[in-house]
Amino acid sequence: MKNLFIAIEGTDGSGKSTQAALLAEKLQQEGHKVHLTFEPTNGHIGRLLRSILKGQISVDQKAIAALFLADRLDHILNEQDGLVKKMNEGYTVISDRYYFSSFAYHSVYMNMDWVIECNQMCREILKPDVTVFVDVPPEVCMGRIIANREVPELYETGEILKKVRNNYMEAFNVLASEEVVKIVDGNQPVEVVAGYVRDACHM
Ligand code: TMP
Repeated sequence: MKNLFIAIEGTDGSGKSTQAALLAEKLQQEGHKVHLTFEPTNGHIGRLLRSILKGQISVDQKAIAALFLADRLDHILNEQDGLVKKMNEGYTVISDRYYFSSFAYHSVYMNMDWVIECNQMCREILKPDVTVFVDVPPEVCMGRIIANREVPELYETGEILKKVRNNYMEAFNVLASEEVVKIVDGNQPVEVVAGYVRDACHM
């Protein structure tokens, strides 16, 4: 069976990272070789992005979008553990966030077409077999963020999360003919959501 490239998406506080980890565990138990990864990465550009998200450095929003693109290209292409290498080695790759995060978050500040066009080169290199969106109402996400973080990050306000969720939906519509997207109800007990996520990744 072909190894898949799966992207897991959701707003901050949606529980998507927990779901990505549970999916990795489940697929491993089923006998698949799994590479679980995330964006922003732990590489040089990803670490710079984390400082920006924490408000330690102030950078123009278009430059931030471009840095996420640079981090993604390194995520895909780097020779050590890049996604292309991992796919060629037969791993099922699960990425906690990928280019739909860029479409949803950066278009709060700029035209979505600009972000989509910038990311076209990534889509040409590696397009997910499926993108799973863990859908949780922004108010619920915001409640979780407030409960779990001392200081919210750059995009973690109720207003921005609402816009981000709307932007995800818009991006899914705009790219409906080119991308496979599954939206699952994330406002359920963790193990129920895990079942939906597993079902969304037919393999
Ligand atoms: P995380 O909460 O999944 O660790 O993601 C960190 C933040 O990075 C989150 O607020 C969304 C943001 N982000 C973007 O703004 N653009 C992107 O392309 C990606 C991958 C993440």
